[in-house]
Amino acid sequence: MRVPLLDLSQQYRTLAEPIHEAIDAVLASQRFILGPKVNAFEKAISDYCNAPHAIGVSSGTDALLAILMALGIGRGDAVVTTPFAFFATAACITRVGAKPLFVDINPSTYNISASALQEHLEKNCRTDSKGELMTPGGEKIRAILPAHLFGLCCEMDAIQEISERYHLDVIEDAAQAIGAEYQLGGKIAKAGTMGKAGVLSFYPSKNLGAAGDAGMIICSDDELARKLRILREHGMEPRYYHHVIGGNFRLDEMQAAILLVKLPHLDHWSAARRAAADFYGAEFVRSGLTEKIALPAEPYRDRRLTNHHIYHQYVIRAPRRDALRQHLTEREIETAIYYPLGLHQQKCFAHLGYGKGNFSEAERAARETLALPIYPEISREAQRYVVSSIAEFFK
Ligand SMILES: Cc1ncc(COP(=O)(O)O)c(C=O)c1O
Repeated sequence: MRVPLLDLSQQYRTLAEPIHEAIDAVLASQRFILGPKVNAFEKAISDYCNAPHAIGVSSGTDALLAILMALGIGRGDAVVTTPFAFFATAACITRVGAKPLFVDINPSTYNISASALQEHLEKNCRTDSKGELMTPGGEKIRAILPAHLFGLCCEMDAIQEISERYHLDVIEDAAQAIGAEYQLGGKIAKAGTMGKAGVLSFYPSKNLGAAGDAGMIICSDDELARKLRILREHGMEPRYYHHVIGGNFRLDEMQAAILLVKLPHLDHWSAARRAAADFYGAEFVRSGLTEKIALPAEPYRDRRLTNHHIYHQYVIRAPRRDALRQHLTEREIETAIYYPLGLHQQKCFAHLGYGKGNFSEAERAARETLALPIYPEISREAQRYVVSSIAEFFK
């Protein structure tokens, strides 16, 4: 049996008709950029996330970049982030001229560790005479950029407390966590709405995927939203008058029209992913494999949350990970490694002076984690085959 990591074809088949109609409507309108579909999709995401502002952009990466630009983060600044995430986080911090300041991850969730963050700021950074928090190298720390990896929110209560203590902005990378929930101050909040601004990605493989690149920024600050709308069109306001330099970060009508068709199904898809994760969990327990492998942590399961995890990925930790992966490949089971190398060890960040051994948990996760096939329509038969193939490996 062949089991792909992700199969979007069933989802497409069920929605092919309305998607074609939506595309035809855009073609008939001949309006392709920032038009009524983008406006409608922004409104729909704003309602879905309960975020006052939603600004459609060209990708999750451009959303990160635009937020950093709008907050005026640049040369001489530093942003604290995780060394274990997709490249875009640290890359965008670097692209605006600032320095990524890495802090190790929580080994059970793989998200940035709030206690490591607190310890780092307390032990290694200092507050200067103007009350600014400075790195040992003299950069001003401006923000914390946590990424809600694999569909699970970071420890946002602790992160928010730290950000308030040190007067830092929080930029949430919710590219992998659209709709994931967290209990913050007695209220249920969606990923991306708990800081100054949040980033969503609609890269095709995401829980809500476009037919190309697309992204969204969500925020509650009116002035920040206004700046972001200007920045996404080359800093233009009014047309052909530029007070600031922005970029072409625009979302197109075709993607917005397709995403509008898909959005009403998102919660159902995330619930189906969660049901698949539950099934994996039960099968791993039944097969006695939980002594061998670590299943994904679910720290918020018992807290009245529906989307306590949206399982963008189902990631296990396993000894002899590479050999296990090879074994599964031979059985036509597709897996992935997110991520094989910590950001602090990437060649392009060598100038930051980090190296092997700096973040032991991120490095261990890079060596030991493996993403298994998961998508809303995955069959229980396919999942049983994945689990029995893993059991066979450990026999
Ligand atoms: C954690 C994280 N941040 C940022 C991004 C960037 O999003 P995009 O691919 O839409 O640019 C991704 C997407 O892959 C991601 O997973």
